[in-house]
Order: sequence, then structure tokens, then C-alpha cells
Amino acid sequence: MIMIMKTITHSVEETKVLAQNFGKTLKPKSNQATVLALFGELGAGKTAFTQGLLAGFGVSQHVTSPTFVVEKIYPLSDGFGFKQVIHVDAYRLSTGHDLTILGFSELLAGADNLIIIEWPEKVSDILPANVKKIYFSHLPDGGREIRYDE
Ligand SMILES: Nc1ncnc2c1ncn2[C@@H]1O[C@H](COP(=O)(O)OP(=O)(O)O)[C@@H](O)[C@H]1O
Ligand SMILES: [Mg+2]
Repeated sequence: MIMIMKTITHSVEETKVLAQNFGKTLKPKSNQATVLALFGELGAGKTAFTQGLLAGFGVSQHVTSPTFVVEKIYPLSDGFGFKQVIHVDAYRLSTGHDLTILGFSELLAGADNLIIIEWPEKVSDILPANVKKIYFSHLPDGGREIRYDE
């Protein structure tokens, strides 16, 4: 059965708390990386969600969007299951090949990697079938709707 979870947040802090709790539900797979695909327009909260999730994994360094560097890697301390989080911003890319030449296949093969991709539609040709998709949208009242399937 597929359950659709839908949450509305009214501040960046609420989005971060949601992400922190969401991150704690993730368990590494046995044979490949866990991939989160964050869909949604500019300013919808994808980077804020990533910041909250990383804070939940004990990452205290400042997390900014890797728009120009494409990907950033955050090593995690022991005890979180995953060894590292890879934050990808595919905004400026046009196909998955742009990630493949950066060694993305190796990252996908690592079961202790958690990969978070903003603008996943730009690299849809190389996303594994079982990515977890999270959808962000602006609400008329200024809030954000965050939706995912369980
Ligand atoms: N409920 C909310 N959740 C997340 N961000 C919010 C919310 N309300 C306002 N904001 C603001 O919206 C912006 C979201 O930016 P960001 O996370 O970088 O978006 P994206 O990565 O999707 O382009 C931030 O400036 C944040 O302060
Ligand atoms: Mg962003």
C-alpha cells in the first residue's frame, strides 16, 4: 500500500524539523545508496529541508546550496547508519551525463551513502528506479506543502 504524506509548514524552522524527523526514518539499503529527489520550484524549501536533515545527522557546518559546485559531501559521525550525505544541486545541469562524469555511479553504488538531489528532473535519465520523491510547493498563504509517498 502506498501512503501519501502531506505536511504544511509555515516557517523555515518547521520545514527543518520535519526534515530532521524524516531523516531519522531512513535506513541504508544493503546494496546501493539511498536517494532522495527533491522536486519543486525555486524558493520552495528544498535546501532548507536538506539543512534540517543534515542538522539531524549532527552536521553543524553551514549548509549552502551547491548550485555552482554541483555536489557537496558531508561525512557523518558513527551511529547514523549512513557514512556520508551527498547534496547535489542539478539546477545548472542538462542530463545525467553531467553527474556521471563527476563519478556519480560510484556514489550510487555505495550503500552507506545518502544522496539528496535538488532539481532531479534535470538528471532523470540516471536516477535509480527506487528514489524517494519529495515534492515542495508554495501555498497562497506563504506556507509550503511538502508531500511524499511512504
Ligand atoms: N515554510 C517554509 N519552509 C521553507 N522555507 C521557507 C518557508 N517559509 C519561508 N521560507 C523561505 O523560503 C526560502 C526557501 O529557500 P530554499 O530552501 O533555498 O529553496 P529551494 O532550495 O527550494 O530553492 C528561504 O528563504 C526560507 O527562509
Ligand atoms: Mg536549493
